[in-house]
Amino acid sequence: MITVENVSQLILRHRASLPEVPIELIGPAADRLFREIATPIRPVKLATDRFGVFRVLEKMGADVRFEPWAKTKNSLACIILNLPREKARLAMRLHEASARLAPGGRLFLAGANRAGIKSSPRVLDQFFFRVEKRDSARHCTLFEASDTRSGKPFEPNDYEHRWTLDVPGASVQIASLPGVFAHGRLDLGSALLLDSLQALQPSGRILDFACGAGVIGLALLATGASGEVTLLDDSALALECAGRSLEINGLRANRLASDGLSEANGRYDWIVSNPPFHQGVNNDLDVARAFFRDAGTFLAENGRICVVFNRHLPYGRWLRESFNRVEILAQNREFTVLSARNKQ
Ligand SMILES: C[S@@+](CC[C@H](N)C(=O)[O-])C[C@H]1O[C@@H](n2cnc3c(N)ncnc32)[C@H](O)[C@@H]1O
Repeated sequence: MITVENVSQLILRHRASLPEVPIELIGPAADRLFREIATPIRPVKLATDRFGVFRVLEKMGADVRFEPWAKTKNSLACIILNLPREKARLAMRLHEASARLAPGGRLFLAGANRAGIKSSPRVLDQFFFRVEKRDSARHCTLFEASDTRSGKPFEPNDYEHRWTLDVPGASVQIASLPGVFAHGRLDLGSALLLDSLQALQPSGRILDFACGAGVIGLALLATGASGEVTLLDDSALALECAGRSLEINGLRANRLASDGLSEANGRYDWIVSNPPFHQGVNNDLDVARAFFRDAGTFLAENGRICVVFNRHLPYGRWLRESFNRVEILAQNREFTVLSARNKQ
């Protein structure tokens, strides 16, 4: 039984007053809201940039797309947007939504109070002349916006920020978009992992698990890793950045949309990762726990896993529960880099 999340319950309270027109639900929770608000003259289409959410909704029979933003231009009369879990992503989402609304179209923005929805009118005002608070319940708030300001057309490239990652012997350009992990910069944990990998020179089949903009996999490729690199992430935005980064540098790798290891197959000689540790405001460690439990089944016989994580996280313990021959490769006040091989 899939529960209806608080933010969806708040939207449901307004089911009767939603316009009887096709609705697009962007960034929805993985629940049955879409079924509850659909009517014969109000079909509901969905779009999400989280692969795990996409799979759940698809299984429920939803008309759902997995994408960082809509690839087709259309005029919509009503959009319901869930506050993106990364704050930095809101302006880009609202810009896109305002550009896709037909004249007279209405946008509803819903989100949890602790995720910062109450400060969203500041951003809504940049794209709409009329912004009203409609409701507040279940620790969530709903805004309605209409009367689009006709500003610059929505062009994702305008949001791209390129930065240079210097690794010994190579320079890599990374394409970053707001909302991607460590937007526009190298995370300090990832930097420590890259330092450690330099001496190890991974080669063969390499999986960069939770790749974000592709920093780790691209650094390995640029410094001559031989073999096949796969960049895996649950986020369509991250995979978009990784794809752009590969293209700018003329490098090749597979990109794999996957919720945890759900879509991984075969065995890897190396699994390298700075694994996820939160979902927006939630410190949700389930993805990492499942990763440490299952990663060994995707390692080749002499395969090796190399991970970096913040020292306050229980990842070292989880790694040791599934692997032996665990080595500390680097450590500083904030981060630990561990390498491990399968139990034999
Ligand atoms: C700590 S970041 C690391 C990003 C990148 N490797 C780097 O070093 O900059 C973790 C990544 O995990 C991804 N992620 C979150 N949940 C995930 C899941 N269920 N499956 C796969 N990746 C996930 C996020 O989208 C994010 O890109």
